[in-house]
Amino acid sequence: MSETQRVQKPAWYFREYAPVGVELGTPQAVASYDRNQGTSAERDNELLDRLAVRRGSVLVDLACGTGSFVVEAARRRADAHGVDVSPEMLRYATKRAESEGVSAHWHHAGFLDHQHPGPAADVVTTRSALHQLPDMWKQHALRNAAGMLKPGGTFYLWDAMFSFDPAAADQELQLWVDAAAGGHTFTPEEFETHIREEFSTYTWILEGLLDRAGFELVSSSCPMPTQGEFVCRKR
Ligand SMILES: C[S@@+](CC[C@H](N)C(=O)[O-])C[C@H]1O[C@@H](n2cnc3c(N)ncnc32)[C@H](O)[C@@H]1O
Repeated sequence: MSETQRVQKPAWYFREYAPVGVELGTPQAVASYDRNQGTSAERDNELLDRLAVRRGSVLVDLACGTGSFVVEAARRRADAHGVDVSPEMLRYATKRAESEGVSAHWHHAGFLDHQHPGPAADVVTTRSALHQLPDMWKQHALRNAAGMLKPGGTFYLWDAMFSFDPAAADQELQLWVDAAAGGHTFTPEEFETHIREEFSTYTWILEGLLDRAGFELVSSSCPMPTQGEFVCRKR
């Protein structure tokens, strides 16, 4: 597992290795993560197909968590890189790759400081994680992601993001919390913590950040008012 060489940052720099919001880095949280998140190899493969990830493609998954997506990419012989700030998540991901008999690269690094080694990436992805950064730092992260990609390469973002009318925010957020009750997913209290302490933002803010990071929008969709995706191409 490689460690990004950490460059001394100014005191005002965002501390991306410090946990934010819902605690996901404990062994117990990691062990129950896939069940709570509904991780599915089938859905991973659908997305890999959509993004045309195949043998020899260079893929970087930022904030890879338990590594299912990277493992599925490696299974199809992509040059697959998983990046995460959590040593516990990376331990789990590494074991998953070993037990599945696939070879991937794992990096203990973050959105802000990861330096992609080797040839520029064809595809950079990040799912359910960019909200860990306040908006100004999202812009840093997206610029860093763009720097990993070859021109014309694909950037994929899936996250908790808000497409509702800001005037309806209180009702929409409460509906989101209430929907978690009784499901086999994160608890309503964890959703409350997410809203209060993490940094999910509006889709129209993300569009501006993506544009300023050098991405052209290929498609976007919001299956729920609180979740959505962007598929982008590096200009
Ligand atoms: C909700 S999980 C998502 C994991 C995975 N992408 C998925 O879709 O299942 C959020 C992940 O982001 C990681 N993370 C938090 N801040 C990060 C940062 N600044 N850079 C990289 N990873 C980060 C956490 O350790 C955790 O593994």
